[in-house]
Amino acid sequence: MAGVSVQAFRRQGRRFGAGLVCSEMVSCAGLQHGNERTLGYLRIASDEHPLAVQIFGSEPAAMAEAARMVEEAGADIVDINFGCPVRKVTKTGAGATLLEDPERAAEIVSAVAAAVSVPVSVKMRRGCANGSRACLELGPRLVEAGADTLTLHPRSAKQMYTGEADHSLTAELVERVEVPVIASGDITSRARAEAVLATTGAAAVMVGRAAQGNPWALEEIVEGRPAQPPGEEVVAELLLFIRETVRELGEERATGFLRKFYGWYLGRGRFPRPFKAELTQLPTIAEVEQRLLDAAPGAAFVLRRLEQELPQGDEVLLDLPISIYGGG
Ligand SMILES: Cc1cc2nc3c(=O)[nH]c(=O)nc-3n(C[C@H](O)[C@H](O)[C@H](O)COP(=O)(O)O)c2cc1C
Repeated sequence: MAGVSVQAFRRQGRRFGAGLVCSEMVSCAGLQHGNERTLGYLRIASDEHPLAVQIFGSEPAAMAEAARMVEEAGADIVDINFGCPVRKVTKTGAGATLLEDPERAAEIVSAVAAAVSVPVSVKMRRGCANGSRACLELGPRLVEAGADTLTLHPRSAKQMYTGEADHSLTAELVERVEVPVIASGDITSRARAEAVLATTGAAAVMVGRAAQGNPWALEEIVEGRPAQPPGEEVVAELLLFIRETVRELGEERATGFLRKFYGWYLGRGRFPRPFKAELTQLPTIAEVEQRLLDAAPGAAFVLRRLEQELPQGDEVLLDLPISIYGGG
């Protein structure tokens, strides 16, 4: 998820039972131009694997080159975005636009599949317009072009995140292709995951928003363990997330980036509402950390334990391979 799936989020997801995690979407144009921030998306830690890195773009040759860079950075899967509904992306002919341009979409998949030796997956929405069934025609063409797996989020691009994901389309797609299909959309609980798996024949489910500030949802889905962590554990996970994100993005970028996470962690009836508002007003990360520890002093102990359990120093590879920078 763009603006969410930073390395700290993915590593946390793995710790809580996710079988596979995915990067934010990475611009192939940004990679092509050596944009420093875009290259930063290719940082992969040793405890993230297996990891998919998602790329978006509209030019087959540029997408193939981006895929090569992604493979070299250590991704286990190259994922292609044919679902992003945001205008900044669709107006360039990328993202969801490709759902309505099957020729070009197939060319992209074919170029990417030829460029890398790791598996290639494609993430789609159902189509652009409400009620569209474009994904059902497109899916088999993409498999023919070389896609090893398809993920379907069965909302239209126009819908954005409104209404419900219509997983009857997921079931239809499963019938039409031989490769594993992953179901994305409104998977919020083990009961929901089981129902979608049973009614669609999908090989796996993907969890998005339910895991934002709530890795315990993954534990509940994977193991059936109730997702009601004590307050000090919530605060400790948030503190760890803050520290890792600061290390990854630098303090200045992290300060704004993290604000939406405060509500995600502290909401869900876990802490009084004004507390979240108070945190988002604090100007520095140090003040946020102190305020969190004041609210849940026991979190310091839990945090120490979490930090001890994480791989340390050299075990976590935070830097890009030098070859990505072209030698220096
Ligand atoms: C903030 C946000 C960012 C997202 N960014 C991406 C993205 O970069 N690539 C992608 O394939 N899907 C993206 N999605 C869509 C999710 O992967 C997922 O398909 C969708 O949210 C439905 O699943 P959910 O109900 O489990 O959240 C994003 C969703 C959200 C809420």
